[in-house]
Amino acid sequence: MRKLNLLTATATALTLAACGAMTSAPSGPSAFAMLSPTTGNATTGQVRFAPSGGDKVVVSGEVRGLKPNAEHGFHVHEKGDCSSGDGMSAGGHFNPAGAPHGRHGGARHHAGDLPSLKADAAGVARFRFESRSIGIGGGPADIVGKGLIVHRDPDDYTTQPTGNAGPRLACAVIARG
Ligand code: CU
Ligand code: ZN
Repeated sequence: MRKLNLLTATATALTLAACGAMTSAPSGPSAFAMLSPTTGNATTGQVRFAPSGGDKVVVSGEVRGLKPNAEHGFHVHEKGDCSSGDGMSAGGHFNPAGAPHGRHGGARHHAGDLPSLKADAAGVARFRFESRSIGIGGGPADIVGKGLIVHRDPDDYTTQPTGNAGPRLACAVIARG
């Protein structure tokens, strides 16, 4: 009888360990955005959004056709609509929590405020960062169906509600995939 209890306890512990492993491993949907240049510009890029452990999203990609050695504001915008030609149809920054504009990772910021892109001498930005402020495929901060915008100018992380990042160089609709 005592031996049986021990076996049961061992089986329970193994089951709990397996469940723990499942919840901490990356799971859930991923998303993708193909950036197209706005009228008169040549900025293109691909961005991948993938689930990571503990509610985090890994954002990675490459954007080309930027001003060399310069920073460029980079945000998720509230509308997945790039039809206007100048990117303005994507609306303002995605802001489901009603927060002020700010720096990604700072105390308060729009969910859509991402770290600025940093172009190299060839005008290419390659990046990979983690975010806890956006979600994929569910919840209030779900970015699927929203817009993604690359700006001409740096984000000052202060000016409301835009960061004063200037015109929109490229636009995408974020899709599951
Ligand atoms: Cu923006
Ligand atoms: Zn913002």
